[in-house]
Amino acid sequence: MPRLLFNFGLFVFILGCVAHAQLPSPFDVRIDHYKTGSIHDLVINTPRPRFSWKISNNNEPSQRNIEQIAYQIQLESIKVSAKDNLFQWDSGRIVSTQSIHVPYASRYDLSAGARYRFRLRIWTSIPNESSEWTEWIYFRTAIFNLNEYLTDNANLLWIGSTKINMNELRKEFLVPNTSPVRSAIVYISGIGYYQFYINGYNVDPSRKLDPGWTTFEIRTLVATFDVTSNISAGMNAVGVKLGNGWYSGEQLGIPTYGPPRLLFTLNITFQNGEQMQVLSDQTWSGRQGSILRDSVYNGESYDARNERVDWARPGFNDSLSAWIMADSLPSPVSEARNGQLVLQDMPPIRAGFDALHIETDMSNHERDYLKSMNLKYIQGASFRDGRGSVLKPISVSQPTVGIHTFDLGQNMVGWCRVRLRGLRGVGVYFRHAEILAQPLHSTGQSTGGIYTENLRGATQFDTYILRGDPNGEIYEPTFTVHGFRYFQVSGAPNPLTVDDVECPVVHSETVLKGNFISSSPIINQIQHNIQWGQLSNIMSVPTDCPQRDERRGWMGDAALSVNEALYNFDLIKFYVNFLNLICDVQQSNGAIPDVVPNGGGYPADPNWGTALPTITWQLYRHYNDSQILSTYYDHVRAYVENIRGGYNNTGLVNLAYQFGDWVPPPPQPMTNEHLIASFAFLHDVSILINMSQVLGKTADSQAYSAFYQQLAEEFHRVFFNTAANYYADGMQSAQVLALALPNVVPENARVTVFNHLLSDISAKNNHVSTGIVSTAQLYPLLSDNGHHDLAVELISSTTYPSYGYMFTNPYENATTIWELWDAPSEGPGMNSRNHIMYGSVGAWFYSHLAGIDLSSTGITIRPRMVSETKKHLLSKINCQLSTLYGLVQVSYTRDERDTVANSILMSVIIPPNTQAKVVFEPLFPGSRCITLLEDNQTIWSLASAEFTHVRNFAVERDTRTDFMTVHIGSGRYEFQVVWQ
Ligand SMILES: *[C@@H]1O[C@H](CO)[C@@H](O)[C@H](O)[C@H]1NC(C)=O
Ligand SMILES: *[C@@H]1O[C@H](CO)[C@@H](O)[C@H](O)[C@H]1NC(C)=O
Ligand SMILES: *[C@@H]1O[C@H](CO)[C@@H](O)[C@H](O)[C@H]1NC(C)=O
Repeated sequence: MPRLLFNFGLFVFILGCVAHAQLPSPFDVRIDHYKTGSIHDLVINTPRPRFSWKISNNNEPSQRNIEQIAYQIQLESIKVSAKDNLFQWDSGRIVSTQSIHVPYASRYDLSAGARYRFRLRIWTSIPNESSEWTEWIYFRTAIFNLNEYLTDNANLLWIGSTKINMNELRKEFLVPNTSPVRSAIVYISGIGYYQFYINGYNVDPSRKLDPGWTTFEIRTLVATFDVTSNISAGMNAVGVKLGNGWYSGEQLGIPTYGPPRLLFTLNITFQNGEQMQVLSDQTWSGRQGSILRDSVYNGESYDARNERVDWARPGFNDSLSAWIMADSLPSPVSEARNGQLVLQDMPPIRAGFDALHIETDMSNHERDYLKSMNLKYIQGASFRDGRGSVLKPISVSQPTVGIHTFDLGQNMVGWCRVRLRGLRGVGVYFRHAEILAQPLHSTGQSTGGIYTENLRGATQFDTYILRGDPNGEIYEPTFTVHGFRYFQVSGAPNPLTVDDVECPVVHSETVLKGNFISSSPIINQIQHNIQWGQLSNIMSVPTDCPQRDERRGWMGDAALSVNEALYNFDLIKFYVNFLNLICDVQQSNGAIPDVVPNGGGYPADPNWGTALPTITWQLYRHYNDSQILSTYYDHVRAYVENIRGGYNNTGLVNLAYQFGDWVPPPPQPMTNEHLIASFAFLHDVSILINMSQVLGKTADSQAYSAFYQQLAEEFHRVFFNTAANYYADGMQSAQVLALALPNVVPENARVTVFNHLLSDISAKNNHVSTGIVSTAQLYPLLSDNGHHDLAVELISSTTYPSYGYMFTNPYENATTIWELWDAPSEGPGMNSRNHIMYGSVGAWFYSHLAGIDLSSTGITIRPRMVSETKKHLLSKINCQLSTLYGLVQVSYTRDERDTVANSILMSVIIPPNTQAKVVFEPLFPGSRCITLLEDNQTIWSLASAEFTHVRNFAVERDTRTDFMTVHIGSGRYEFQVVWQ
């Protein structure tokens, strides 16, 4: 097809009708938020999907002001058998600029369990000429009433065994050859984890640790696979491996529900319309396979001598192992708690190259960019060329005879594949650690050259027993995952080199959509550490950390990181799933817990519970999808009311909390915890107000606005120390949080409070004393209130406590974000090197350093500038952000042309079908813009106002602030602004 298109294009070109071939056309089409191009079996769980597309400018960003004026969508069913009717829907030409969340508008819902295809085209500048159609995009719909479908079938059983560790199950079935197979669809759930084979093949080999983790008794996820091409007439076989996962494992504080179990349905539809079904039932047989032991925390033991290559093929006969019939086991979902079997409606966890898709292109230029600025390379693995998906060790050492320690050069999450050669029955042992030693803590001994003590109860220990293949054998674990940088192999029968090891990175499948690089090596390394830290903590739910005996859905961590996460990665389906898991465990009084799923700790600390309102709001902001707000509105409101119930008894002054402004840098104490909790309460009330306004719920928005005003006054009254003129105990956290809340600090006190904050930072020699809650607010607060220089100075710091200290201290070169500011000097008790909660600052890189703000009314580009005296800290940035409309790019350079001081060159790319406001701030206090050029032509000058509308640029000067604003449509722009 591409070749045909090319020929056609050439043909058109020869005829001279270039216009048609160059018309902007739709690409990167989404349906129901799924990015169609990267999914080979696209399943949607709604009868009324919405569509989004980007509009290509044919790689000519110089082409400007592309706007859609109309679209047309055609959708039709795919007839599976002779019995099906053809369904067609054609939207016709719809005059509309809308290109995201465009509704399916047929009178008829899509059918469940059906196959469809759709395509679309658009009209842009020329009303009579449409773009080419996209290619047909195929998808299928899920069984919408899946829970009833699976539970109403009395022949369908959850199977496993209470007698043996049955982790390999199989079943053969005969497919008649009377009519050709036209469709074969599987619904499967295997909990804790499953891997699924048909006729000897793993159906989706990069898919791992499936299904996603839930509060199993309330929601157990079911996956679906199209196996049409795997089935043929005659005998077929299905095999399933089961792991313990979070269902059967020994996990900290989480119930062990019982042995792993499987639910399986396969429906085969033949050409003649007949169907046959294969179900999990007591005709399946099972045994303990080659996995002897598996645990999320503690690794896996694998005896390769127990492998039976043909176990998932028809005709398999195994006289050596004890296969027994499977037992029926109870369903994991609880009827009493209205538990449901639910389609897993989000991208699965994957390993290696299929796990991360890349929508930006700057990572390919990262090296060139750094080189051009003479900057040192970023430490750790790069996403460039997808090489960040499977890591090769950068070195190997042999601390003792028989032990190899590999350094991946990057703290990551996944496991290693190792090539071994040796005698049958030889055992090899694998350990995983984040660091080699804990240098400053007296009892922090490392054993065997790696430090595993901070993993606490999680051993991350794998064992492999060789089958003795003379050609060598490769091991990688199946049902466990490790957080580590150092990989240690003991007892390898052959000498190992770095070429014998490769380590796939494992996380929920996602798209890298943001890139930020700058002239500051410190900020670049922080950005690197945040992206890797974030990727390390999306394991079907947002986790606090990936390595020790925790890895839990701590809500505070999820709330703090979501804004940064949504700038860096495409995670809408992932977070919608998490919101559902939160709502699953919301009590009838609105209370939610600190940890989800399987949460404990009701009611949550307000800064943890804020995950529900915060994630809801951030998803809306980043995806401009108000449906998210309406779906969760009642849950958010009930949650806010629940906090209010506690507040009715305590007031803000004694508002309940559990954690406060967690882990401030020692020796700093924690600030008043009631103030910290009150911050979250006010923050969430204001989110509720915002939500009610977007949704047009006027009564709520009035009531909560009045309530907010009352709370704001109370906050000031009870926490402001009128004698000292600061909040609470004077700690930075208290000032930051009061100032960050709208309308709390009275106008006449704002300057005093700010000055107190600034002088405290300065008294600490430009260091923070903030914990996780206030650190997240600090940077935007400073930048938005005239103290951007200080914000950049703080982020550029490398002395303790600072982000930079994490990778410039004498002890470790962090490649992810630490849990504690002072990791090297703390004991192993709570000291992860890969927590994402302090990664919150990453949002500020996009929102303030690049100044990209996406809102429903358009894009604003307003990079905050350090003043001339701090220019050495940050003189260039280059930022890309892939939005639903396409790529936004902002890059600037200060004073590139030596002859013109106090100037800035700024290149901006705005995607088609959007408008943007580009705002230039004065480069130093009191400065005024004297000339504004675009593409080397003056479009505004202080001397002559008549330039204002040159080439249709609308330029505004704010006479009060001296900000310059240029309104632009899509395209690439090269601005130069000179200040005096
Ligand atoms: C699966 O097949 C059975 C008959 O074998 C049929 O009753 C059932 O409706 C089918 N389910 C779906 C979703 O096609
Ligand atoms: C708290 O007080 C408000 C206002 O008096 C009231 O509307 C609300 O129902 C109270 N909530 C609880 C749980 O007592
Ligand atoms: C940190 O990285 C630098 C530069 O690669 C290296 O020289 C130094 O030894 C590393 N420090 C540690 C503790 O690994």
